[in-house]
Amino acid sequence: MESLDKTNALRLITLFSGAVKGISFYPASHPAIKQPLAELYGILEAALRLKEQVSWGLIDGMMFFEDHLFTIPSSAIADLTNQMTEKEIGRIVATSACSLEELEAFIKLFAVKGIHCDVLSRQMKEKGIAGLTLVRHGDESFDQANKPLEDDATDDHAKTYNQALSAVRTICRDIERGRIPNSGPLISIVDRMVQITMQEPWAMLGLTMINDYDNYTFNHCVNVGVLSMALGTSLGMDEKAIKDLGIAGLLHDIGKTMIPKGILNKPGKLSSTEFDEMKRHPELGSKIIREMKGLAPHISSVVLGHHIHYNRSGYPEWASNLPFSQMIDIVAIADTYDAITTLRVYQHPVNPNTALNQMQNMTNTILDGKIVGCFIEMMGNYPVGTLVRLDTNEVAIVYRPNPLNENAPLVRILFDDEGNRLPVPFEQALIEPDGSRYAEIVAVVDPLLKNIDIGKLVTSATL
Ligand SMILES: [Fe+2]
Ligand SMILES: [Fe+2]
Repeated sequence: MESLDKTNALRLITLFSGAVKGISFYPASHPAIKQPLAELYGILEAALRLKEQVSWGLIDGMMFFEDHLFTIPSSAIADLTNQMTEKEIGRIVATSACSLEELEAFIKLFAVKGIHCDVLSRQMKEKGIAGLTLVRHGDESFDQANKPLEDDATDDHAKTYNQALSAVRTICRDIERGRIPNSGPLISIVDRMVQITMQEPWAMLGLTMINDYDNYTFNHCVNVGVLSMALGTSLGMDEKAIKDLGIAGLLHDIGKTMIPKGILNKPGKLSSTEFDEMKRHPELGSKIIREMKGLAPHISSVVLGHHIHYNRSGYPEWASNLPFSQMIDIVAIADTYDAITTLRVYQHPVNPNTALNQMQNMTNTILDGKIVGCFIEMMGNYPVGTLVRLDTNEVAIVYRPNPLNENAPLVRILFDDEGNRLPVPFEQALIEPDGSRYAEIVAVVDPLLKNIDIGKLVTSATL
């Protein structure tokens, strides 16, 4: 079903959070409240024209509006997250019965600090607010039909991926606030990721193709964790090592939380002073990890060494003679691959197999050649998420490797032979189990040319 786009959903959350803050300082008739409130109501009305009922709130500590998750810790989102957590509100549900006056009355009640969800619900009833209701955090009466897509129990892998995103985000938020992060939630989610990776290494690899432009940093951390674990599995490492690789991958860039945002998000080349500042992130990250409880010391060493390079020509320079385990080479390969294939403000994404070719040029200087070889083998000629043209002229996306023939992976056909987008893509083996041939891959297609969101296509349960 159609729903509000992400930009408007984010605007709604930001305005709601701002109105809650503002109403404590100004009367509702003040322009500083009146105008944003009118805009907020306008967006809510638009959302309710598309759907009878909409909701926003927290899932695994992360703010959502319908099926949009907001993982960037903006101050408006952080403020609202704190208030909802304090009040134990899981979600706010709005229906078309909600008037502007009701919304204003609700915001006034909501803005009062220290009021629990149940008390607030009672007050809303007393005020006659009918178009807005609250669902308490963890309440089982939670409307299943309106759960965000990411929480769909049938899509366990996507849920796990999102929980990992949430765990990394919480850790970064704690660091920003000067706290020592709790490693507990991260460790339990990595346990789950280890199980999935050891059973089906490709299941989570597909998720690393999600190009979330807004949430690059968190997605990158989780992707590096997923790719490192998959590579560790294909190198035959044991469960404990795979778990440590996952934790190190997820945390490899947390030191960036302490680097000024102006440097982190600067498009283009950094000045040498800025680059020196950026180069501190492995050291800062490893220091934080040493302070976190329950993490093995070598995890902090992997984070310290993830930019040291195979020939030790990287940074931090002072650490070049330290003994590092092979895990740094694994994480460095995962890091490089994800950085090359990701769409960023200043970077056109590179197709997976082009990225693998580029990585081959880095072997035995920046990256360990032997492990790059294993990585390439693991990813196959056409890694999951590659868009390909078949000799039938159809366009398809690779969604599962074929261990028996890496040139004939399982694909989903997206465009027919005349270039028409199929309403329902279908799965197809390029070579059937009985040996009969459906088609051959003739070229790799640029996803930007086809305006395709690879992540959705690989992971969507509806396909
Ligand atoms: Fe890094
Ligand atoms: Fe990185």
